[in-house]
Amino acid sequence: MTWHARMIAADTEFDGAPLLRREFRLEDGHGAVRSAVLTLSALGVVEATLNGRPVSGDVLTPGWTSYEWRVRYTEIDVTALVETESVLGLALGNGWYRGRLGWGGGRAYYGEELGGFAELTITFEDGFEQRIVTDESWTSGPSAVVANDLYDGETIDARRRDDAWQRPGFDGDGWTGVHALDFDTAKLTPYIGPTVSRREEVAVQRVWTSPSGHTLLDFGQNLVGWLRIRAQGPAGTEITVRHAEVLEHDELGTRPLRSAEATDRFVLSGGDDEFEPTFTFHGFRYAQIDGWPGELDPAAVTAVVIGSELDRIGTFRCSDELLNRFHENVVWGMRGNFVDVPTDCPQRDERLGWTGDIAAFAPTAAFLFDIDGFLKDWLRDVDAEQRNHDGMIPFVVPDVLKYIPRPAGSQFPDPDSTALWSDAGVWVPWTLWEAYGDREVLEAQFDSMTSHVRRVRSLLSPTGLWDTGFQFGDWLDPDAPPENPAAAKADKGVVATACAYRSADLVARTAHLLGREDEQREFAEHAARLRAAFNEHYVDNGRVQSDCTTVYALAIAFGLLDEEDERVAGDRLAELAEAAQYRISTGFAGTPFITDALSKTGHLDVAYRLLTERACPSWLYPVTMGATTVWERWDSMLPDGSINPGQMTSFNHYALGAVADWMHRVVGGLAPAAPGYATVLIAPQPGGDITEAETVLTTPRGRASVSWTLQGGRLHVEAEVPEGADAVVRLPGQEEQRVPAGQHVFDVAHQETSDSVATR
Ligand code: BGC
Repeated sequence: MTWHARMIAADTEFDGAPLLRREFRLEDGHGAVRSAVLTLSALGVVEATLNGRPVSGDVLTPGWTSYEWRVRYTEIDVTALVETESVLGLALGNGWYRGRLGWGGGRAYYGEELGGFAELTITFEDGFEQRIVTDESWTSGPSAVVANDLYDGETIDARRRDDAWQRPGFDGDGWTGVHALDFDTAKLTPYIGPTVSRREEVAVQRVWTSPSGHTLLDFGQNLVGWLRIRAQGPAGTEITVRHAEVLEHDELGTRPLRSAEATDRFVLSGGDDEFEPTFTFHGFRYAQIDGWPGELDPAAVTAVVIGSELDRIGTFRCSDELLNRFHENVVWGMRGNFVDVPTDCPQRDERLGWTGDIAAFAPTAAFLFDIDGFLKDWLRDVDAEQRNHDGMIPFVVPDVLKYIPRPAGSQFPDPDSTALWSDAGVWVPWTLWEAYGDREVLEAQFDSMTSHVRRVRSLLSPTGLWDTGFQFGDWLDPDAPPENPAAAKADKGVVATACAYRSADLVARTAHLLGREDEQREFAEHAARLRAAFNEHYVDNGRVQSDCTTVYALAIAFGLLDEEDERVAGDRLAELAEAAQYRISTGFAGTPFITDALSKTGHLDVAYRLLTERACPSWLYPVTMGATTVWERWDSMLPDGSINPGQMTSFNHYALGAVADWMHRVVGGLAPAAPGYATVLIAPQPGGDITEAETVLTTPRGRASVSWTLQGGRLHVEAEVPEGADAVVRLPGQEEQRVPAGQHVFDVAHQETSDSVATR
């Protein structure tokens, strides 16, 4: 790619949100304009206008990548916006590049200067191309944005608004020049996934005054974005909007945000003003508005939900309304945490691409929305970070933590590969392969996948176990004390060695698929050694070291045990789940796998009991507490309505929602029997008190669905298999059968298992 533009920066700071402009005239003598395409990128975030009109609905362009090696650009068709005399304008914000990142209070980890990059290529009727590019001929000036930060919020002073700069002939009063930055254009790379945009709007549900006298607004849904407000009042009036996910003692509950201010300020011009703080975003359900002139009109305030433009492809419903709400919470959690990067949470001073979170959640995500491009893009950053660090997959990608000095005595030692977190480099591409059946992701990630497993191999102790170094382990085990989320019941070596085995096994299978026989042998042998070491050191007649639910869940779900041991382990897992009165006893590592481990070993009834339990901790407890997203902790809000005293208390973390994957496959009964649903698996396993369920998915081949009802001892199943696919049908108590594409109806006798009757 040959670039003509330079990355340019304003000569003056202009409150950290400069405007850049260039005026031009269409070349004469070449006929009409056939097309005009704008290529746009930035160091920071950029919004472009052509003749005062936004070039697209995108926000936060070019998103967050590992900027050291990859800076994305978009290409936008702007043919309809070009005029004979035109002005191309760019507005820059700090974004991830120069804003605050991480909980240490630091900022500008990637650079101190914001840059704008644009190439507008106008093609005329006769084929002539006119190019307008960012270079030293541009000028820069102030905007109405006087402060902007993703965590802290944005301040817009409407008194400073003046659209003259968008028009030809602007006198440039108060404007200065620009300079080219030393930027390597080889880093520019097209988006593989979607851009971020406004996705929907949510109206105010309720306005009231808090005990301390503040005006509070409830939007009825924990969401991610900002408020757009219209207001009218004396010039200089300042309206302050503070955002939070929850209320505590009837006031805005901001403690979970830690140091993130999450506050927008709007200064009125005296005329009719409209504000939209597009250089920040907040995770919130509630807002506190102070300084509103006169009585607040709820219709003047709208929540704008932003996120990556992902297509919704999968839905699930069943006869249990609490489970439906839980599922909806999983979907909302995903919306809010797929804002360009797959993040842990969207609200506090974090919002990082924690690898373990997406390792756990990717299978669920791949069903709900088409995330193929989104995660392929992120995986390129995984690869880039690894190349910079001997194959190590860091805790977060993009890895900004490498720039943040760790305080003395920090619980984080020198970072190295960690189980589950670093395993994202293998599990995520494998998930995409299974869901969408496109080998390309395995080919693209093969080096990343193998270098991860090789690095972990180099960290094993002489016993062949991964029982060395720092591990998060079964992070946030509900039995760990609030102030020490890593103090889990599960032995860290057991968790890590199990994860290492799963990754080695998946890489061996990947090598086989790609016809790389040497690597297939290398990783199959490595996997076999890990499995043998695991069994030798951690397993005793089906008992797994530390004898808690997570270790059984992983050993069973990853296929680490021999048949007889697996049976014993399954029984023990069921026994432990029962002893815990079906409350959740697993953390980040065990939770995504416990229901699978139970259904795999004949304890479907126990899996249903866990899924439908409402007492704390359980998946449904937050739903009974009015949650509208999945929480970071099982008890982010305590039963008395107070916020968990721990440091990690987000109300929007997708990881523990990973059980939705099991709901789709086992409750709903729709799964890929072959990658990309070339063969669909239709295998509902009714249980609990659920009497019907419906699961629908747009597969790469078309629509697939399974819906079932249970009535009068009969299971009635209706299924749709897309053209070009076939299906394996596995119904309780029936011989497996294969059916072609089309609509199918099955009606079979259904008996509750004696096991499930006995445990009720
Ligand atoms: C994040 C988690 C993450 C964890 C790792 C937390 O602060 O929010 O979701 O995976 O740290 O320890």
